[in-house]
Amino acid sequence: MAYDFELGKSGRTLVRDILEVEEGDNVVITADTNSNEDVVKATASEVFTAGGKPMVIWNATPEGVGKAADDMLPLKTLAGALKEADVWIEFNEQWLLYSTVYDKVIEASDDIRYICLVEMTPDMMVRTIGRVDMPKLAIFLKKVAIVTGEAKKIRVTTPAGTDLEFENHPERHMIVHSGDIMRGKASMLPGQISWSPKFESINGKLVFDGSLVPPIGLLDNPIELTIEKGKAVKIEGGREAQEFKNWLEKFDDENMYRLAHISYGFNPGAKLTGKIVEDERIWGGTEWGLGNVGSKLVPEQEGGIPASSHCDGICSSSSVWLDGKQLLDEGKIVNFPELEKLEKELR
Ligand SMILES: [Fe+2]
Repeated sequence: MAYDFELGKSGRTLVRDILEVEEGDNVVITADTNSNEDVVKATASEVFTAGGKPMVIWNATPEGVGKAADDMLPLKTLAGALKEADVWIEFNEQWLLYSTVYDKVIEASDDIRYICLVEMTPDMMVRTIGRVDMPKLAIFLKKVAIVTGEAKKIRVTTPAGTDLEFENHPERHMIVHSGDIMRGKASMLPGQISWSPKFESINGKLVFDGSLVPPIGLLDNPIELTIEKGKAVKIEGGREAQEFKNWLEKFDDENMYRLAHISYGFNPGAKLTGKIVEDERIWGGTEWGLGNVGSKLVPEQEGGIPASSHCDGICSSSSVWLDGKQLLDEGKIVNFPELEKLEKELR
């Protein structure tokens, strides 16, 4: 019975408002044996109601995500079906995003509407999609991205001890996941803005206090990173800090210590669960990625900045100053009346 009555509404928002499924669209939903069956069925049902042609592909759950899943996936048949899809909704637990299947499908199709909704549960779908005013959220996110992108110098602090300063890079764009589907590219759960500042300008303390994925998940103790010129030069804390250091050392790759991006979380329904897709969208949180930098984040560098892997850590209740003017105070908008009003209406 978990949200049996409400789940259809969330499926409708996803299928009609976000993915804009139309009469006759071939919609492939992928899932693995750990995916939530109610989520898949509710979505397939909404696709059918919208006049689309749903097709669900379940595979055995691989022991890894992205390219680490390659050997365990039915590459030819999965890519074969997905290349022909108009819409691809990914509900896999061990995600296909950035796997060879994903690369082949995106390469073959300029206008596929793909959305990554990995590890989705009924509860998460109702909170982060069904109950969210998506058009209003899109307006809010775009305005936040504009004021942040216009700033030259940014400072971020958190109650847990983060205190970082950095400069924005004039050639790098803000990537806004607002619920407007991007054809031929990866669209994500709405409620996030990511960008890469001038890496060499990032200095200070970075304290992860929410979760760190991989290699840990929810954090019982904070992990404190000393950042010099965009690089983690010291990692301190308890058991988890040691686990993180061991994980990083294993790659023997200097680029794994480099910050890759910062992100704002702004999905009004997101909660800290240890699922990174949700954690990185907690309202007023910031997230920092370390390791591989995708080419979308650094368009001036062909092929991005490669590293062996990538991880993301969460800093809750962030305060943010844009050229000295405060935008966020412990996770709440201040000083920007239009944004404050939208925040009140959204939450
Ligand atoms: Fe990341």
